[in-house]
Amino acid sequence: MNAKNTDFGTFAQDVMLGLNSRPKTLPSKYFYDAKGDKLFQQIMALPEYYLTRKEYEILEEQQEQILAGILALGKPFNLVELGAGDGLKTKILLRYLVEKRVEFSYFPVDFSGSVLEELQQSLASELPELSVSPIQDTYSDSLKKQIWEDGKPNFVLFLGANLGNFGVKEAKNIINHLRVGTKRGDLVLIGFDLKKHPQTILDAYHDKQGITREFNLNLLDRINRELDADFDRDSFVHWPTYNPVSGECRSYLVSQKAQQVTVGALNQTFEFEAYESIFTEISKKYSLSEIHALASSGGFHVEESFMDSEGYFADVLWKRQ
Ligand code: AVI
Repeated sequence: MNAKNTDFGTFAQDVMLGLNSRPKTLPSKYFYDAKGDKLFQQIMALPEYYLTRKEYEILEEQQEQILAGILALGKPFNLVELGAGDGLKTKILLRYLVEKRVEFSYFPVDFSGSVLEELQQSLASELPELSVSPIQDTYSDSLKKQIWEDGKPNFVLFLGANLGNFGVKEAKNIINHLRVGTKRGDLVLIGFDLKKHPQTILDAYHDKQGITREFNLNLLDRINRELDADFDRDSFVHWPTYNPVSGECRSYLVSQKAQQVTVGALNQTFEFEAYESIFTEISKKYSLSEIHALASSGGFHVEESFMDSEGYFADVLWKRQ
């Protein structure tokens, strides 16, 4: 995930809307500038951040079963990936398909042109026989345009618990886009972080080394840098919370003092009361029954749930009805 190519006007507008809201909020998609991308890479390697390792384990150990459904059709197909990123996990599936000499085309979708370029280069050297057509776009716009659609079956990957970074309403909206962007019989594989011991979840967003804190604070640094603001980043505390009922892990930046922050590009000064917070990210954790309900409300049928050995994470295969 990366928003390096973010349009200045949109960023400024979102910051204005968010800081004028009560409670104050900032969209998590702006975490991912060059520094945020690096911090996220570090997060994925943290001992507390189990998500990436667990999904990797699922793909490594169950690749054959995951791909069995699409291969059973015995036809060439399109493999579309929403939020392809560095493709590290997807390469497990790509290698398997190339080794088996399966006929398919790969359409990685990402918002960042530079991420796509890097992915294309690495694939050209690692899997030169693979047909790759990168698409630089958002999830919803790419699903509206469906430039991969040529009548062949589609297998859409939406890995990495990225859906969890959307609230319930927005997640449903993305699933609706998925329905519109696919046809009857198409398959979708979605990564979900599952509900588990609250402490395990909280630790994943409150690591001992403070990398997630830096990741959250980078949002303020970015506003300072790009929108000429004067956030005193050290007066804000990184505060993740987890609600075991809703499954929502929410991260905040809490101002430890009453202060004013001026955002030059907006020509506006914002007042913070002592201990007022900015809501910066949601990472929703799902139960298997919620995943089933989400699938059927969007017109999909759950074919199979692939889980790691501890039941922490699930890549769930849906079929478009
Ligand atoms: C990208 N996304 C799935 C991550 C998550 O776990 O919600 C982003 C993240 N935020 C803090 N740590 C990692």
